[in-house]
Amino acid sequence: MKRTLNINRKDIELRFDPAESLLHTLRNHGYTEVKSGCEEGECGACLVLLNGKAVNSCLIFTSSLNGDRILTAAGIGTLHEPHVIQQAFVDCGAVQCGFCTPGMVIASYALLQENPEPTEAEVRRALSGNLCRCTGYVKIVEAVLCAAERLKSER
Ligand code: FES
Ligand code: FES
Repeated sequence: MKRTLNINRKDIELRFDPAESLLHTLRNHGYTEVKSGCEEGECGACLVLLNGKAVNSCLIFTSSLNGDRILTAAGIGTLHEPHVIQQAFVDCGAVQCGFCTPGMVIASYALLQENPEPTEAEVRRALSGNLCRCTGYVKIVEAVLCAAERLKSER
């Protein structure tokens, strides 16, 4: 099958099998920042923004989409121009193996879009669908609160 989606602000034609998940279609087209973990909607590694809403891409059939907007962690910021959230993850030591990081960044981005001044409890709740096997979450939560502060001072 073929469909065009707007991925990281560019219209991209995708070719995929009818039963394929968005996660696999994205990875097969080079968007390997979208990580494959459980493939059952449990770990959040595959999180992307779909039309502005955070979703687990492993739970979505690509065939159900057409013309939709997808944003991955690489569309939020790049190595040379990191987003404030990404920079805060680095500065706070919130990245160890990095496997969970793209999903964490997407979840954090979605949270701060909706709630620019979250409490620690709200950050923890917003990240509750994202599993990290390395950090113990403390530094990740710190990074999101730090990013919120930095974004506030930019407003
Ligand atoms: S790979 Fe999608 S939630 Fe784990
Ligand atoms: S940094 Fe390794 S899984 Fe989170």
